[in-house]
Amino acid sequence: QKEGYRFFMEKEIYEQSIVVSDCMLGRIKDSEINFDEIDPSILDGINEIKICACGTSYHAGLTSSYLFERLSKIKCSIEVASEFRYKEPLLTTDTLFIVISQSGETADTLEALKMAKSAGLKTLVICNVDNSSMTRVADYTILTRAGIEKGVASTKAFSTQTVVLWMLSLYFAKQRNTISSSKLQEEINTLREVPLALKVYENIHEKAKRLSKRYLHGHGFFFIGRDVFYPLALEGALKLKEISYLHAEGYPAGEMKHGPIALADPELFTIALMPKNMLYDKIKSNVEELSARDSTICAISSQDFELADDFIKINDANHYMLEFFEMLIALQLLSMEISIRLKNDVDMPRNLAKSVTVE
Ligand code: M6R
Repeated sequence: QKEGYRFFMEKEIYEQSIVVSDCMLGRIKDSEINFDEIDPSILDGINEIKICACGTSYHAGLTSSYLFERLSKIKCSIEVASEFRYKEPLLTTDTLFIVISQSGETADTLEALKMAKSAGLKTLVICNVDNSSMTRVADYTILTRAGIEKGVASTKAFSTQTVVLWMLSLYFAKQRNTISSSKLQEEINTLREVPLALKVYENIHEKAKRLSKRYLHGHGFFFIGRDVFYPLALEGALKLKEISYLHAEGYPAGEMKHGPIALADPELFTIALMPKNMLYDKIKSNVEELSARDSTICAISSQDFELADDFIKINDANHYMLEFFEMLIALQLLSMEISIRLKNDVDMPRNLAKSVTVE
């Protein structure tokens, strides 16, 4: 079933370009976004969005929190489900409660959903598994249509969740009248380019293989980014941790100088997400600071950056979300290649299970 790929994770990385098209099928119509599965009145009486999820799904949620505020102009907050449950959260019925889960079975997320539902909130699950526990509890379900994901390290679930959430933020923006028709059309045109952005190009895969030789000796990794590239940095670090067992941290690039930069030395690898279309000059100066303190820099960007010790060059794009997906592929490949070189079990990393159904 691996169809010639070495691991399910590899197959699933390569599948993203296709499954993301399935995920958009019928939901993008000419110049509109459409979700048959939700009631068009879903936002009636809603002033706020609250998101709960775990792991990679949390990273998709954090990405979308930027999009809901930027595009739909709806206040949005997000919490890790296990923290949310026990903090005695104040829940109000003007909040749309969104949970995100590949499996639909993660215990903490399911319990958070039940709490919100019993407090009378409207609930929506973004999920990959139809008829899973969460889809049975939530008022509305949007399926991500990623197909079965076997690798414990989540890949295609993340890209499809992110696309659903991006489409949802545009759907809400249209409903709330916070987006002009020309801007909406531009975003829709960009969405249509996502399958291409998620294609695995041979040169990127080769580069990831080459870098993995040296990077497996890193004594620590920082993945840094700004805006939506911060959750992407978290996701890159999580991938590396879970399958290579190397210490990695995702950080907002602007926060490095508030402490973590003290760790900089040549053995500390910084994976810098440097999108041309989002705060490029800001991230550039954050990376310059790290380079000046001798951290080894691996830049992922379409723009040449002379201070980079290593470079993964992605295709040029004119929208930050396209850069986001291109970088995602590079990050997934890099962690997988390091894991393979370390002779780890890429699909079944130690201590982990595909679905965490206990607290
Ligand atoms: O099935 P879920 O999306 O609810 O799972 C949440 C996390 O357990 C999951 O994303 C986990 O972090 C992955 N192993 C990450 O690759």
